[in-house]
Amino acid sequence: METTRSPGLGGGTIPKPPSKAKLAAKPAVVEAVGVAKPQSDEKPPLTFRRRLVWTAVGGFLITNFLMFLRFFFPRTLFEPSSRFRIGYPADFSLGVDERFKQSHRIWVVRQPDKLFVVYAKCTHLGCTPNWVETENKYKCPCHGSGYDMEGRNFEGPAPRPMDRAHVEFDADGQIVVDIARLYSCPPGAPCQFETDPNSYLVVS
Ligand code: FES
Repeated sequence: METTRSPGLGGGTIPKPPSKAKLAAKPAVVEAVGVAKPQSDEKPPLTFRRRLVWTAVGGFLITNFLMFLRFFFPRTLFEPSSRFRIGYPADFSLGVDERFKQSHRIWVVRQPDKLFVVYAKCTHLGCTPNWVETENKYKCPCHGSGYDMEGRNFEGPAPRPMDRAHVEFDADGQIVVDIARLYSCPPGAPCQFETDPNSYLVVS
């Protein structure tokens, strides 16, 4: 800092005010020495982060909107009807018919004087047995239960015979089966399918 002598006061010095030119030059010094200007290549990461956040928010909102729309389309399971026609008695020859096992889980059993429908579900733990024609029996593949042609258990852990389905004739004489109405033979109790007339059909 420049100084000047004060006339007539014993030689003391009074500091000179800075010139206008120096004052004007100061900001340049601060700018040069002080705060560093942000570099232009720091902006892209900030923009990328913003984009990332907005993408996440947008994805979240879209997902929730789609989930909301999903409520307008209830999940419906289209299963075959439990009540269906299987044809006329003359369509079945003596023995066990497996035509409807895959589609409706039943066997149609034709005997000389009657016809009935066995529901193909093992009474042990519910597996689907197989009809073994060479041995004249149904055999469960899970734990080995065996049933005769009428569905009566005679070997393995099955506790009782397999159920029979409701059968009746329609107005045209076709056989109608309803697997929602089953007749059973509980252990130690009389069999429903021996007493209920809708558990078999009389045929000739
Ligand atoms: S489920 Fe058939 S024997 Fe066990």
